[in-house]
Order: sequence, then C-alpha cells, then structure tokens
Amino acid sequence: MSSDRSYSFDPSRALPNDAFRSAHLAALEHDHIWHADWVFVATEDAIANPGDQLPVAVGNQPVLLVRQQDGTLAALSNLCAHRGTLLVEEPANGKRVQCPYHAWTYAEDGRLLSVPFAEKAEVDKAAHCLPRHQVAAWHRLIFVALSDAVEPFQTRIAHLDALLTERGIDDLHHWPNHQEAEIWESNWKLAALNAMESYHLFQVHPETLEPYSPTKESYYIRGSANATATGGTSKGEDDYTLISLPPGVVGVLTPGSFVWQAVTPLSVDRCTVRTGGAFSTPAPERQKGPMARWLTAATNAAAVAAIPDFLPEDKAICERGQRSAVGDFEPGQLLQIERVVADFGHYLNWRINDVPPPPAHNPDRGLGSGS
Ligand code: FES
Repeated sequence: MSSDRSYSFDPSRALPNDAFRSAHLAALEHDHIWHADWVFVATEDAIANPGDQLPVAVGNQPVLLVRQQDGTLAALSNLCAHRGTLLVEEPANGKRVQCPYHAWTYAEDGRLLSVPFAEKAEVDKAAHCLPRHQVAAWHRLIFVALSDAVEPFQTRIAHLDALLTERGIDDLHHWPNHQEAEIWESNWKLAALNAMESYHLFQVHPETLEPYSPTKESYYIRGSANATATGGTSKGEDDYTLISLPPGVVGVLTPGSFVWQAVTPLSVDRCTVRTGGAFSTPAPERQKGPMARWLTAATNAAAVAAIPDFLPEDKAICERGQRSAVGDFEPGQLLQIERVVADFGHYLNWRINDVPPPPAHNPDRGLGSGS
C-alpha cells in the first residue's frame, strides 16, 4: 500500500492477503469501481413493460431503473430532489414517480413536474430533476454507471461479443422470478475470482462440477482487463463458454442455458452473491393455486437439473480464504490455466491505480505478455 490514491501490487501474481482485509483498498474500490465503473444491476426481463420501475443499488447509491413508454431504459437517482427520501422501495409500474413524503412528482425521465403548495415560481424545477445515470443493456443484462467518465459499455466487451452471439445467448429467456441472493463471509474479490477461474474445479468440486466440466479440459479463449472468455468441455455436451466481466459478473453459456453469478461488496469481509439464469424456455408464470405452484416447481427442477449444487462448495472455500487473510504471504505465481486471475489483476490496477491495461490477448501468448 502506498499513497492515498493507489494500492501497490503485482497484477500478474496472486493478490496479497491484504487486498482482502484492507479498508484503504475497499475505499478506493468504492470510489473507483463501484461508484465509477459499469455495475450489473438486473436482467431486462425484470423490467420488461412500459412504466416498470425497479429499485436497485449501485455501490451505496439507490438507483431507480425505469422502462420508459418508448421502451428505452432510464437509470435515475432514487432519492427525492427535495429532502432525499427514497422514492421507490419495491418494483412498481406507473408513468410518474411520486415521493411518499411531500408528493413531489417526477416524469419517467426524471423531470420534476409538480410541487404541492409551492408558490408560483418558488421552486426552480429544472434545478430539481432526478439525476440520470448511464445505463446499458447487454444480452438482456443491465449495467449502470454512476460516472459519466466511464467508456461506453460496448467498448468493454466488443472483443467477446460475437462469440456469445454466435453461441445463441440472445435466444435465451432470463428467469427473474427465480433469482437468488445470499451473503458470503468473504471479500467480494475472493468470490469474483473464484467464479472466474476453472483451476479449482478438480479440488473443490470433485463430485459436482469436475465430472461435468473437468479442469484439465478448460481453456483460455480471449481476454483483457475488461472481459475474458474461457471455455471447457461439458460431459456429453458442446463446450461451455465462461465469460468474466469485472468487477463481479461471471456467466456460463451452454447450448440452452446461461447461468450467471454477480458479486457485490457489503463490507471488506462480506459480500452478496446473486445467481440467476436464462434458458431456452420462458420463465414459468407465478401461479397461485397449490397444484399450479407444484407444476412450476417441477418445471424449474427440469430446467436446472443439469446444474449440480456446487455453490456451497464455492462459498466454503471463499470463506476459508477470508479466514486465511489475517496472515501474510508472498503472492505466488499464476499458472496459464488461471490466466483470467491476471486479467482481473490488470482490471484492479487500471481502475485503482490508473495503469492502462494491456491489450486483449490470445491464448498462444504468455501470461505476462502485453503487460
Ligand atoms: Fe420528497 Fe419531500 S422529501 S417530497
């Protein structure tokens, strides 16, 4: 660790344990990643209809996603421009957003429309609009950036986009009603890195993932500090493609499914891990009667039957990693098979230390090449 604006480490080696316990680094990450970079917030299917309003969080900042009447997405501050009250707490639908405190009312694009009991011209409405943030939808995943300085989202993943399109990601339907979230007692980077690399499968998941997608048959496709694609063979199936999108999103694309995991920090030693998926069939409707609910559950079970219950094993090894972080060690060498860990290191070095990331690289080049 050095000056206030930087965090010294070697991105081509393992992260030091200090990176998982440092309040200084966590503060830098808050400012230069979670409140500056593109952050995954929701799937498009969760906000599909005109007038849908979905409250989400970007870092610590409450944001309101809005599906506008013309079908486009807007990301507004979810804090009233009067005295800062949270505007929308649960998913809703409407053409206006009204504050529950004094009923200041906003249009779907954040313009302030009305202020009860205000004298004529007493309030400068143009000065009290809800701030708008950048929003991007990518293969039905929605990302928001609080900073205007961030580069266009498309630029970040252009080197991988065709790969996913060719593999049919846009033919799948996300199931927003079946997403899960849990809290892990680990730094967010432990959970994110664990999801990105396939090196640990044979040791951590010998009976769940390893028989299904063996470590020795995983391979690197193409990557950079922005986004990396790796792949591997799935037992009896076409190869899978694993896409890693720093800071915290990983998705596994197979024929007929795209299962994703998104990690966000809660504190230096706790994080939220969200999981969800897209499948070749639309999500089952929410049903009310007991028989209909049973049918829905049976349908879900069939759709996800091919995904073993490996997440508890990942949670255990990441929480062990956090307990290990009380001690120091000399960060070890990264192998070719875990090259995505180096890509993530370059991402951190770029966002935190302003070090330009190396160009996208191909699998026939060495781990340190381009750096
Ligand atoms: Fe929203 Fe007063 S705080 S109207």
